[in-house]
Amino acid sequence: MAMQVTRERTSGKGTIYRISGPVVTAQGINSRMYDVVFVGKEQLMGEVIEIQGDKTIVQVYEDTSGVRPGEPVVETGRPLVVELGPGLLTSIYDGIQRPLVVLKDKMGDFITRGVQAPGLDHAKKWDFKPTVKKGDAVQPGTILGEVQETPTIVHRVMVPPDAKPSKVRDIKAGKFTIDEVIGTLDDGTELRMMHKWPVRVPRPNEEKLRPEIPLITGQRILDGLFPVAKGGTAAIPGPFGSGKTVTQQTLAKWSDAEIVVYIGCGERGNEMTEVLTEFPELKDPKTGGPLMNRTVLIANTSNMPVAAREASVYTGITIAEYYRDMGYDVSLMADSTSRWAEAMREISSRLEEMPGEEGYPAYLAAKLAEFYERAGRVKTLSGKFGSVTVIGAVSPPGGDFNEPVTQNTLRIVKVFWALDAKLAQRRHFPSINWLNSYSLYQDSLNDWFAKNVGQEFLDLRAWAMDALQQEAELQDIVQLVGSDSLPAEQQVTLEVTRMLREIFLQQNAFHPIDTFAPLERQLKILRAIKRYEVLSKEALARGVPVRTIGSVKSKSELGKARFEQDFDKAYEVVMSGMEQEFKVMEAA
Ligand SMILES: Nc1ncnc2c1ncn2[C@@H]1O[C@H](COP(=O)(O)OP(=O)(O)OP(=O)(O)O)[C@@H](O)[C@H]1O
Ligand SMILES: [Mg+2]
Repeated sequence: MAMQVTRERTSGKGTIYRISGPVVTAQGINSRMYDVVFVGKEQLMGEVIEIQGDKTIVQVYEDTSGVRPGEPVVETGRPLVVELGPGLLTSIYDGIQRPLVVLKDKMGDFITRGVQAPGLDHAKKWDFKPTVKKGDAVQPGTILGEVQETPTIVHRVMVPPDAKPSKVRDIKAGKFTIDEVIGTLDDGTELRMMHKWPVRVPRPNEEKLRPEIPLITGQRILDGLFPVAKGGTAAIPGPFGSGKTVTQQTLAKWSDAEIVVYIGCGERGNEMTEVLTEFPELKDPKTGGPLMNRTVLIANTSNMPVAAREASVYTGITIAEYYRDMGYDVSLMADSTSRWAEAMREISSRLEEMPGEEGYPAYLAAKLAEFYERAGRVKTLSGKFGSVTVIGAVSPPGGDFNEPVTQNTLRIVKVFWALDAKLAQRRHFPSINWLNSYSLYQDSLNDWFAKNVGQEFLDLRAWAMDALQQEAELQDIVQLVGSDSLPAEQQVTLEVTRMLREIFLQQNAFHPIDTFAPLERQLKILRAIKRYEVLSKEALARGVPVRTIGSVKSKSELGKARFEQDFDKAYEVVMSGMEQEFKVMEAA
């Protein structure tokens, strides 16, 4: 995209010269790149994405059918911003932060155009409790006070990041709307509970930190084998129906992020409808209340124009950074980023840009990188620690990972959870392929795991990965000659890896107990399987036939234990049972 930075921000008027779907060419205006303009008689909102001489090219966030050349174009002289303040949590927005409920009330089920609705409720009063006092020195990002935003989340009101260091001249306590002034700084700056921020500009922080704390998900295959760091990036590519959405929602519910930003880009026609009806119903397992109390949902339904979908990821990540700046751990899920990339492709083709691979614009890789780079664990401007973890689903057409969106994503993200259609068909869930997946955070997270769970967990992880690799190699032989003709040792290995797959890797997202496994439980399951291996090898050495070893009951008992409310007790029973079973085994 051509960028011309010498233009001054203006707020004049021009006319439409040409329309091509969501892309409108205007003349007679002098806006800068990424400025917002209003297009046509209905004042449809759009954003400048290219400037060619005296022509300004705008992507429009609403359907442009019926709009004609010659209609007016009005400049605003400002970029696309989001409103940041209390009331974000529990909201459901479109890609440009218009609340869907308000839109629906204004438009009914028919989409009328040119509806403008602010992101936050400007009438509602919030109870503000200052944490600074008159005379205190403040910096950009300094926390001024608190608002109980939802029953569980305290909203920290900050000095806007683009303000100047100053001192508090006065600060109030009590009930205010987000537009009312709650205080002033010595330099005259008026303080409110809300500030605006341009979505395409990353919010500043003091320092980016090393990714050395894991995001605990309670998903055994993720925490155990392919962990993501708080502030890290992960991709979940997978074919149709392989479990992308279930995985994302499980992470939203269970991971130890305090705030969730969920960007849904309608896959199938009705999938977003499902998200819109199901998400507000989801329970927060930590509080028993609605998950929405700590969630912001951004929904792109299939009848929304592509440009709004293009913008939605920026809207989402800006909101995520805002809660990070309050000192929260935030996780952002985008389901699926392929729909976002397709929006870019459509706009690019309307611009008649030179297409890159498979018609995607040449800047696809750069856009993906720009988005994922906004993840991170940081020291905030106010000296707190916060993080944004970004987890993007990718839906490659036909499930072929050799396509541009998957490939470019993999070059950027540090964790790859590869969903596998074959596993899903076999009802092995989560159908994450343990041979293709990886985490590049493992090394930097080792210290944390060793300190908080124990070195044993890391040793067991290495052992399990190794056994699963061996299984993959043995599988070829088994296919040819059957497992009975393998040496007894290797038959034991296959038994062990079957346990690893069925008891450790498989996890039922819909079972009330199995859906979440604390690290301690993950450790115990691995320890039990490893113990089975040790006892089996000892028994083999004593001359016990492999068939006898394979038929121990405690194996299936362990499988059942993971569904038990009182797992620890069930585990003790299984373990002593296993010791006993092996003790009484006799040589042939
Ligand atoms: N962890 C899991 N536990 C139990 N069932 C699962 C799990 N993951 C996926 N499934 C099953 O697989 C089905 C499809 O999953 P999901 O809708 O997440 O796939 P998807 O990859 O998002 O599909 P699409 O490409 O259509 O968006 C679910 O409805 C569920 O029955
Ligand atoms: Mg899905």
